[in-house]
Amino acid sequence: MSVFPENFLWGGAIAANQAEGGYLEGGKGLTTVDMIPYGDNRMPIKLGLREQVALDESEFYPSHGAIDFYHRYKEDVALLAEMGFKVFRTSIAWARIFPKGDELEPNQEGIAYYQDLFRECQKHGIEPLVTLCHFDVPMHLVNTYGSWRSREMIGFFERYARTCFEAFDGLVKYWLTFNEINILLASPFSGAGLLFKEGENKEQVKYQAAHHELVASALVTKIAHEINPANQVGCMLAGGNFYPYSCKPEDVKIALDKDRENLFFIDVQARGYYPSYAQRTFRDKGVELEIHDGDLEILKHTVDFISFSYYASRCASADMNKGNTSEANVVKSVRNPHLEASDWGWVIDPLGLRIAMNTLYDRYQKPLFLVENGLGAKDVVEANGEINDDYRIDYLRAHIKAMGEAIEDGVPLMGYTPWGCIDLVAASTGEMSKRYGFIYVDRDNKGNGTLNRSRKKSFFWYKKVIESNGEDLS
Ligand code: BG6
Repeated sequence: MSVFPENFLWGGAIAANQAEGGYLEGGKGLTTVDMIPYGDNRMPIKLGLREQVALDESEFYPSHGAIDFYHRYKEDVALLAEMGFKVFRTSIAWARIFPKGDELEPNQEGIAYYQDLFRECQKHGIEPLVTLCHFDVPMHLVNTYGSWRSREMIGFFERYARTCFEAFDGLVKYWLTFNEINILLASPFSGAGLLFKEGENKEQVKYQAAHHELVASALVTKIAHEINPANQVGCMLAGGNFYPYSCKPEDVKIALDKDRENLFFIDVQARGYYPSYAQRTFRDKGVELEIHDGDLEILKHTVDFISFSYYASRCASADMNKGNTSEANVVKSVRNPHLEASDWGWVIDPLGLRIAMNTLYDRYQKPLFLVENGLGAKDVVEANGEINDDYRIDYLRAHIKAMGEAIEDGVPLMGYTPWGCIDLVAASTGEMSKRYGFIYVDRDNKGNGTLNRSRKKSFFWYKKVIESNGEDLS
């Protein structure tokens, strides 16, 4: 007997900005991610340390063409269906629906595109799981309003979300508001479109932006429920617990603080109010939050489920600023000497997934949805065309086993959508060679290649996993 419930949602995940391409097609406007090049300037721009408000012709921008999902979605969805997908996570590019972000009327071409995509999923019996904002804020909103530092963003996001809930009603019932909302703190430009002025308190800007996002998230959760009570809305955390590097109380305390930094967002979205430690955090960081009348009331509209990504656990020590750190998923962590790491230095820790799931459920008592997980690795195409990605199968097998253990621990898990089910552009480095997929895409880091799709060994393996509802992991 499988430990996974009968209606368990097996599938995979991508995001518009890393897959679609067609960056100015169908009336789409420029977004933050469209301004982030491949190469040396990528990190400073992503982190908001270097401002780029216009495209530079000498740079290569991976999101502009990506894997051309914009034109090839029918072929891609058919491949996902062949694996037996029950759910497919993708995001809507805000700038396809509202190209500038502050228009009063949506772009009908953008709506038609996603209606078609979701109908295609339905045709194959695949339930879409849709993120409203996966890192890509319309650039006009950044240039004109300073993105989420401005309160006006709440209204723009509300109009955008309402348009989506109405236009895709009956096609989509699972929604996520902001992808990895906590990444705003570590990567302010790619996370929330934030740029800083000389000398200002960055913490103030980030936490004020976070407040605006949290209010916007709660508001649209309420709207989603009003438009259709069958809608289920989740928050989305870049997950993975911090382990104390040692049992030294100072290490334990810093691990607690680091976990709280991340869980702060989910505490609000899941419980409906700021956590008890928030005041102290704000005071220590010199943050004075501007909260308007009615905001705290809106925050009471909590999410239906907790979605999260899990690639790696993290580790904290009291001297973590003294070197010996790596940055998996832009979150700084001390290297854990007990764990192996991927080629990109992300530690491999399936037990950490079980720990993270138990922590989240202990804390929130809401169903969980693991919406990103996987191994970024270089694949080799053999002379006969085969791609034997056993390392990926090993990683996924171990994590699925850990999920099963957590379910047996009593944690309700709605589904599993491993990341980058089709190879796509890596968010951190912009590389194509950091691949996660069951489906190989012929494209390199500089945008060369046929874009042809082919099935990796893991494709056939995952098909079997789904068919057996997680029982056959061999
Ligand atoms: C998460 C993001 O941070 O991790 C994805 O939600 C991202 O957009 C994924 O792609 C993996 O990170 P990377 O840098 O390997 O693509």
